[in-house]
Amino acid sequence: MERDAEVAAGTQRVFFALWPDDAVRLALAGAARKMHRVLHGRRTRDESIHLTLAFLGEVDIEEFVRLKSFPAGLLPEAFHLRLDRWDCWPRNGIGWAGPSQKPRQLAALAHNLETWLRSEGFQLDRRPFTPHVTLVRDAQYAAMPEPLAPIEWAVEELALVHSQLLPRGAQHEVIARWPLP
Ligand code: 2AM
Repeated sequence: MERDAEVAAGTQRVFFALWPDDAVRLALAGAARKMHRVLHGRRTRDESIHLTLAFLGEVDIEEFVRLKSFPAGLLPEAFHLRLDRWDCWPRNGIGWAGPSQKPRQLAALAHNLETWLRSEGFQLDRRPFTPHVTLVRDAQYAAMPEPLAPIEWAVEELALVHSQLLPRGAQHEVIARWPLP
C-alpha cells in the first residue's frame, strides 16, 4: 500500500529483520552489484538490504503497539552469522546471499518470533524460514561463476522495519530495535 493509502487506512506495512551495520551493508551491496552483472534483474538498493525474519504485511495501530511489546526474554544471545553462499531461486527470480550453516541463535530467534506472533493472533507465511538476503529480483537464472567471499556479520539486534512500496523500489526504515543480550 502506498503511504497516503496507509495513512488513510491507519495501517503500515512492517516486518521483523536483521538490519546490517554499515560494513556488512557495504559488503552485501558489493555482492549485489556482482550478482546483478550475472543475473540482471533489479538490484536491491543499498539502503534497503536486510535479512527478513517474519513478514507481517499491513498492521493497524493496535497491532503495531502489540508488535513493539515483543518480550526481550525471547531473544537469543548475540551471535555471529557468516554469509558464504549466493545463488538464485529459479521459481521466483530472487538472487540471494545466505549462510551455509544456520546458527542455533538465528533458528531460535526465528522460531521464538513466529511462535509469539502466532500466539498474538498474527498471520504468517507457512513456508519454513530460509535465511537469505535478497540482492536481486526478477533475475535471469544463472549459476554464479565464483563462490561468495564470506561476509562476517556480528548480529547484535533485532529490528522492526516499516516498508513502503515506491515506484523506485521498496523503501525501508527501522522503527524499533531490540538489542540481543
Ligand atoms: P524477499 O526478500 O525474499 O522478497 C519486505 O518485503 C521483506 O519481507 C522482503 O525481504 C521479503 O522477502 C519479505 N517477505 C516475506 N514474505 C513476504 C510477502 N508475503 N510479501 C512481501 N514480502 C515478503
